[in-house]
Amino acid sequence: MDLSPLQSQLITLKAQKNAVILAHYYQRPEIQQIADYVGDSLELSRKASESHAEILVFCGVHFMAETAKILNPYCKVLIPDLEAGCSLADSCPLTEFIRWKRKYPEHVLVSYINCSAEIKALSDYICTSSNALKIINSIASDKKIIFAPDRNLGEYLIKETGREMVLWEGACVVHEAFSVQKLIELVRSYPSAKILAHPESKSEILKIAHFIGSTTALINYVVESPADTFLIGTEVGILHQIKELSPDKYLIPIPTEEDNTCACSECAFMKVNTIQKVMDCLQSESNEIILDPMIQCLALIPIQKMLQLS
Ligand code: 13P
Ligand code: SF4
Repeated sequence: MDLSPLQSQLITLKAQKNAVILAHYYQRPEIQQIADYVGDSLELSRKASESHAEILVFCGVHFMAETAKILNPYCKVLIPDLEAGCSLADSCPLTEFIRWKRKYPEHVLVSYINCSAEIKALSDYICTSSNALKIINSIASDKKIIFAPDRNLGEYLIKETGREMVLWEGACVVHEAFSVQKLIELVRSYPSAKILAHPESKSEILKIAHFIGSTTALINYVVESPADTFLIGTEVGILHQIKELSPDKYLIPIPTEEDNTCACSECAFMKVNTIQKVMDCLQSESNEIILDPMIQCLALIPIQKMLQLS
């Protein structure tokens, strides 16, 4: 792999500073190339908790970097751009959320990891897309559940587990945007293609998907599948790893409602991080994640429960 001068400088700098770079699959390819580890949100949380580095540069969105800080409180956690948010995390303003939670005093609150540290601190369990079924199934059947913030993932969990759950009305702007009509047209053109979808996608997409899973699970499915064509229902960043692992597979991103080019479904929040910003934040040790110590302690409890259960 040929590295740019900036990528090479970054590799030297991270060794000098005893820093580790963690990157989510939705990051730009040039960031994934120099990361010490690339993974889904559960794997990155594990890596963060196990790290002995002095500095963690978290190339992902803010809630992911916060989770890393909660799991490794003595490590300096940096994020290349503090504006790297998430529409799901943004859908839960704290005051409104507390009011909603108060309506269900008997219920257990399961929160998808795509939420702020404050919401995590109020939660009984955290889950990611790769362990959500396991977490819901681990909760005693006589317990009532409220689930936040992703309505689509929540509906998928209700269908798969048969559990009744009250859902918060949040959604991911990227996964909500996939067009069912355009997917059907693609299926007509590529009848033997396998349809893959992240569970944040709308139920109409999930209904016709051959496989539903987290980013890592989707990548593994393509790599291990004997099929050669795949319609991909998640952020296009995962195409980089699939092409590295299985260069011969033909990958078609599912188009969004507004896009006809198929160069679609990018998460604008993930893409605010650039290789230059990774360099800048590590050089100046800026954009550090600082959390209220009490929130940090409370949020750790449901995250640890999740790690133990998965
Ligand atoms: P994963 O846990 O599958 O990596 O999902 C993270 C995410 O933000 C999906 O939009
Ligand atoms: Fe949030 Fe969606 Fe972007 Fe994932 S893809 S970080 S859920 S906005």
